[in-house]
Amino acid sequence: MKTALITGITGQDGSYLAEHLLALGYRVVGLVRRSATPSLERLADVRDRIELVPGDLLDTGSLLRVVQEHQPDEVYNLAAQSFVHASFGEPVHTGEVTALGVVRLLEAIRIARPEARFYQASSSEMFGKVRQSPQSEDTPFHPRSPYGVAKVYGHWATVNYRESYGLFACSGILFNHESPRRGLEFVTRKISDGVAAIAFGERDRLALGNLDARRDWGFAGDYVRAMHLMLQQTEPRDYVVASGTTHSVREFCQYAFARVGLDWEEYVTVDPRFYRPAEVELLHGDASRARAELGWAPEVGFEELVQRMVDHDVGRRLAAGREPVRGTVTA
Ligand code: GDD
Repeated sequence: MKTALITGITGQDGSYLAEHLLALGYRVVGLVRRSATPSLERLADVRDRIELVPGDLLDTGSLLRVVQEHQPDEVYNLAAQSFVHASFGEPVHTGEVTALGVVRLLEAIRIARPEARFYQASSSEMFGKVRQSPQSEDTPFHPRSPYGVAKVYGHWATVNYRESYGLFACSGILFNHESPRRGLEFVTRKISDGVAAIAFGERDRLALGNLDARRDWGFAGDYVRAMHLMLQQTEPRDYVVASGTTHSVREFCQYAFARVGLDWEEYVTVDPRFYRPAEVELLHGDASRARAELGWAPEVGFEELVQRMVDHDVGRRLAAGREPVRGTVTA
């Protein structure tokens, strides 16, 4: 039985990856920051089949202890300060966790378990002000936020530990991936939950920022399969993981409101508070390498993704006994 250590296990990707690895027969150990009220909501279905251990990407000793004690075969570094907008307000903290945290973990592996295979959650945010479209593993980086800058550092640290110490370290450059488990601060879930709130009369408006931004959105459940596949290859390499399609925030709104029979233009307002000091206008990934070498392909398309997210947020309200007041939702 292989052991996998997952940082960021309480997040969207961590919970999907834990489920995937358990189904493959892994022993799953998850690193969790100490907190008075740990948020284990997304792990509800697997809580009794995984081990949660305390540790923090800010604390090298805790990482070393966990790696030493559990001797993982695979380590997935999904923990980060991952909200781009917040990184402008907390650039140093973002750098400590999202950039230096990668090196702290790599050091722990190098010292205590150099044969472990390592996955780094890199990001399409690294492409930022894109130099070419679509973006592949060969596209130069030009990050546009403290978060993007930190992810570039983590990416190159991963490459560097592979080249310097021969670690089996891979960087997965994942484009946006969403699901009903997405945090409410990210635009897709903010929209799906906003649509449901409007349909149920909890509010009348949804305030958003830049509606013209375009993203390559896929389903998180599909993307965690690619993470695992990267660590099963004979040689470590970096891979772009993307759907290969791109849509604007405006289009996401259109599809999401249409799912409950509403016209988005009647409800969405633009609030400059949600603009970013520097914006990433367009992301569009070319996942040819992942498709060819990993045999990976996404199963959930854009429209189905939007529908699943809206249906989930509507379903939560129906399950709580609430009555829809607008659109085509039926109780
Ligand atoms: N969050 C948010 N809220 N974004 C908005 C809003 C709003 O009200 N209105 C417009 N947007 C735009 C943002 O300006 C951005 O261009 C786009 O919607 C997507 O924003 P997010 O959903 O916050 O995601 P992101 O693309 O910045 O970052 C996500 O994807 C990265 C991969 O490319 C995060 O998951 C990162 O952690 C991840 O690395």
